[in-house]
Amino acid sequence: MHEIIRQLDEKRAAARMGGGEKRIAAQHAKGKLTARERLELLLDPGSFEEWDMFKGHRCTDFGMDANVVPGDGVVTGYGTINGRLVFVFSQDFTVFGGSLSEAHAEKICKIMDQAVNVGAPVIGINDSGGARIQEGVASLGGYADVFLRNVTASGVVPQISLVMGPCAGGAVYSPAMTDFIFMVKDSSYMFVTGPDVVKTVTHESVTPEELGGAVTHTTRSGVADLAFENDVEALMMTRRLFTFLPSNNRESPPVVPTEAPVDEVDRSLDSLVPDDPNRPYDVRELILKVVDEWDFFELMPDHAKNIVIGFGRIDGRSVGFVANQPLVLAGCLDIKSSIKAARFVRFCDAFNIPIVTFVDVPGFMPGTAQEYGGIIKHGSKLLYAYAECTAPKVTVITRKAYGGAYDVMSSKHLRGDVNLAWPSAEIAVMGPKGAVEIIFREEKGDPDRLAAREREYREKFANPFIAGHRGFIDDVIMPRETRRRLARSLEMLRKKHVERPWRKHGNIPL
Ligand code: HXC
Repeated sequence: MHEIIRQLDEKRAAARMGGGEKRIAAQHAKGKLTARERLELLLDPGSFEEWDMFKGHRCTDFGMDANVVPGDGVVTGYGTINGRLVFVFSQDFTVFGGSLSEAHAEKICKIMDQAVNVGAPVIGINDSGGARIQEGVASLGGYADVFLRNVTASGVVPQISLVMGPCAGGAVYSPAMTDFIFMVKDSSYMFVTGPDVVKTVTHESVTPEELGGAVTHTTRSGVADLAFENDVEALMMTRRLFTFLPSNNRESPPVVPTEAPVDEVDRSLDSLVPDDPNRPYDVRELILKVVDEWDFFELMPDHAKNIVIGFGRIDGRSVGFVANQPLVLAGCLDIKSSIKAARFVRFCDAFNIPIVTFVDVPGFMPGTAQEYGGIIKHGSKLLYAYAECTAPKVTVITRKAYGGAYDVMSSKHLRGDVNLAWPSAEIAVMGPKGAVEIIFREEKGDPDRLAAREREYREKFANPFIAGHRGFIDDVIMPRETRRRLARSLEMLRKKHVERPWRKHGNIPL
């Protein structure tokens, strides 16, 4: 028995060494942690239970039968984050470049299946040279097996991807189908075809970082949510994000008790909206002032900055925030911001996380770039997402709510549960200037008269009371009491339940 135990220890130690000291040193030299070091930081100390440590590939081509490394380039299992169960896989670049073989894929599929069965999130750490070249189609099949599970688990358990090394070719589609993607600057990249292929096909010269680095994907493409300086920061922020999420679609996120009273007024909010309707303000200030302890976890902060999305808590409970940002493009909705917010609304709805929407939107962005780019289809994504959402929805119109954008931004008509407005709200078909220029076109040559018309229009329509008269908003509130009103509304909505007619699934305009 003693001998067997010694052998087991030896086998474990060998498996833990992955591709060996030299390759581990090379990994560190690139500023990257190893697969196991990453899991140690991600999970609560001592909580990791590893599965399939001894699993190896079955490939016999290209002399691979003489090169079987236990674990086959991915560390899988489960552990806890702040005591809550999570399933994990972490690709080991030191073993065959973290490339995905059939056996490697089976390991990932095994933990994903179990995560769905027990209702726990999946966090995948990606650091891989892609399909295991020696295995050919077997590895492609392995990818597809993982993709299928990504889709099956979508909306059942939260899925988070950390991209901490190469992620290229079809391999990008597994993270792409998960709920959140975090990347690390300078050491991770995602692209469907790499710089060499790009050069051959389109004659563009581009570095991997430019083509698919963390900055590219968190600013231009919007593929990833956040970019971090290093592995440690990315892992710590993943733990933080985790605190806002439920374990599955039947449970609520953990309640985090707060010292911050919910009924305290914040008078500074009374002057947040400037007197001049064309002057911007930072809507993040409003979000920070209504959440518990100024704790707001913003997602995609550098992409489509004209809309702000992220998680916070009110009275200890998770809330998803969606807010037009007057600081950028006056808070207009355009293609990118509609897609950004729509996906977030759908995540919150899938996991029944209440959504608070702050509205200050002058409308949809005009122009050929938007029309040719399909703003009609993309803008309707947000409309569709809000309309189908049955999670609690509380809306506060702080200033402009014009035109179609008024309807879209979680209006009463889309089953907004509680729709509030600040006294500064302007709810109308369009802004006063544009409106009078159309209705009183014949008076265009008389600027004084037009200015008087504009004043008249502003007094008549640029306020919340006409919408209030119709019941399109439930109340006009003092800005200072926003946190309290949100807290009470959310508490009232806690047991909200909506039945929907049966259907296979809707057909969101993709
Ligand atoms: C097998 C691989 C591998 C792969 C890397 N390695 N990628 N082994 N299959 N796909 C091995 C290398 O042979 C090397 O082994 C070790 O991993 C480290 O690789 P290096 O090249 O030394 O590292 P680095 O210089 O950092 O370059 C990393 C890399 C490069 C950019 C990822 O390795 C690379 O270009 N690999 C091939 C990528 C690729 O074409 N993959 C297939 C894409 S198609 P030793 O023994 O020397 O340490 C695909 C389709 C998926 O993925 C489709 C899904 C539907």
